[in-house]
Amino acid sequence: MNFDLKTLELAAAASEKCDLLVALIPEGFKPGQDALSALAALALKNGDLSVKAGKHLQMYQAPAIAARRVVLVGSGDGSARAARQAVLAVGAAVRAPQTKRVVVCVAGAAKPAAVCAVVQAVAEASYVYTSTKSKVEARGLNRCVVGVPNAADAREGFDSGVALVAGVEFAREWGNRPANHATPTLLANAAKTLAKLPRVQCKVLGPAEVARLKMGAFLAVARGSEEPLRFIELRYNGAAKDKAPVVLVGKGITFDTGGISIKPAPEMDEMKFDMCGAASVLGVFRALGELQPAINVVGLIPACENMPDGRAVKPGDVVTSMSGQTIEILNTDAEGRLVLCDALTYAARFKPAAVVDIATLTGACVIALGGVRSGLFANNDALASALQDAGNEAEDLCWRMPLDDDYADGLKSNFADMGNVAGRAGGSITAAKFLQKFVGDMPWAHLDIAGTAWKGGAAKGSTGRPVGLLVQYLLNQAQAPVSRPAVKPAAKRSPRAKAV
Ligand code: BES
Ligand code: MN
Ligand code: ZN
Repeated sequence: MNFDLKTLELAAAASEKCDLLVALIPEGFKPGQDALSALAALALKNGDLSVKAGKHLQMYQAPAIAARRVVLVGSGDGSARAARQAVLAVGAAVRAPQTKRVVVCVAGAAKPAAVCAVVQAVAEASYVYTSTKSKVEARGLNRCVVGVPNAADAREGFDSGVALVAGVEFAREWGNRPANHATPTLLANAAKTLAKLPRVQCKVLGPAEVARLKMGAFLAVARGSEEPLRFIELRYNGAAKDKAPVVLVGKGITFDTGGISIKPAPEMDEMKFDMCGAASVLGVFRALGELQPAINVVGLIPACENMPDGRAVKPGDVVTSMSGQTIEILNTDAEGRLVLCDALTYAARFKPAAVVDIATLTGACVIALGGVRSGLFANNDALASALQDAGNEAEDLCWRMPLDDDYADGLKSNFADMGNVAGRAGGSITAAKFLQKFVGDMPWAHLDIAGTAWKGGAAKGSTGRPVGLLVQYLLNQAQAPVSRPAVKPAAKRSPRAKAV
């Protein structure tokens, strides 16, 4: 889809030819002399419209307005959050197949973060999955003009919005693809396409190379599958070579049957989404390719299927991880931590400023936090705050969870250095404690996205989270270089504004 930014007051917006004109009306709205302003003012006065974010009023072929359909929608305090709410509230109109061209006019002051949010919300509302459908019911919307009082002021927010949309849609696409259309090999090929972007490189390892690295835990998970594993290594070089990178590690289980500890049938199809951590890493690189920030980033993706088979790893088997630590695999369904632990050991070779892993790791995290916030675990307070702040700025929320050592007690094993599970209680935390055994003293954070990466039910599909949080975090790091201790700039920054 094409996005354009234009200087456009409501008066001028009224003469824009389009299928749908969305006018965002904020608190303290000052109507001009034009027809559209007059309509909005009258509707507000009569109580038929409110400036509360998301409250809206639709009209058809309104006099003196070129657009066939017009929606006036309240945009509250004009914040990014309110702008997003406003656009999503009229999502059905944006998504309608007859809406080919939309103009979204932000009346009043248009903060860069709000413009960024508008772009993202229009994309979110109009996204359609098509890859494996025979009748190509393509996305109806093909052009979106964002109208603001001053295009120059909004440019940076707009550009980051467009870059984020590319990243989020890349992640959604790969998350949504069924497992037979998103094998480890296909995922690696998708990663390779990203190397066409400036400053992005990609390297892919196969089973023999992974065996040579002695990634015994990763190899154990992949054993039961006919599909060969892939270990994907992406690089984005935006800063000097000697600048320590941020390493992102994404869980890439392209299908999780549970293995020999097989899952029950209901909703097992949703385990195609078990590579959404990996997809978010790919999405981040897609966005970095557009944004070109001054930072170094490494992306690592251990990708394989978790299948039951004659050769599959069995409950009770003991394997040796790349770190040398041995693991008793008590439950083959706790496979995510097994592929991640070897990738985390591998991450140390980059001497990272920070390592962040992203994984659909535990059902327990869905119980704890639902679909609103991702679980955040960290061994470093500065890193945890930076990720929380980024989540708040990007409207892609997370919540910090504890990592007390007592939570690791249940991981003790009589036959290996550790077991891979520790009972049902605190399941998302014990999983994080397992991962922590592999990070040494690197600043490390773990995002459990089991509840946020996709939606079930009628709206079943990938959300593209937490691409927004991660990109925001990386942009903030580019402003406050990661090689120095993270100090927050004194002046309040407007989200996403300076980094582009
Ligand atoms: N991929 C799942 C986690 C998951 C389950 C995410 C349901 C979203 C919805 C993971 O590999 C898994 O199976 N975890 C187990 C761990 C258990 C065996 C300790 C779980 O959460 O049940
Ligand atoms: Mn599992
Ligand atoms: Zn899994």
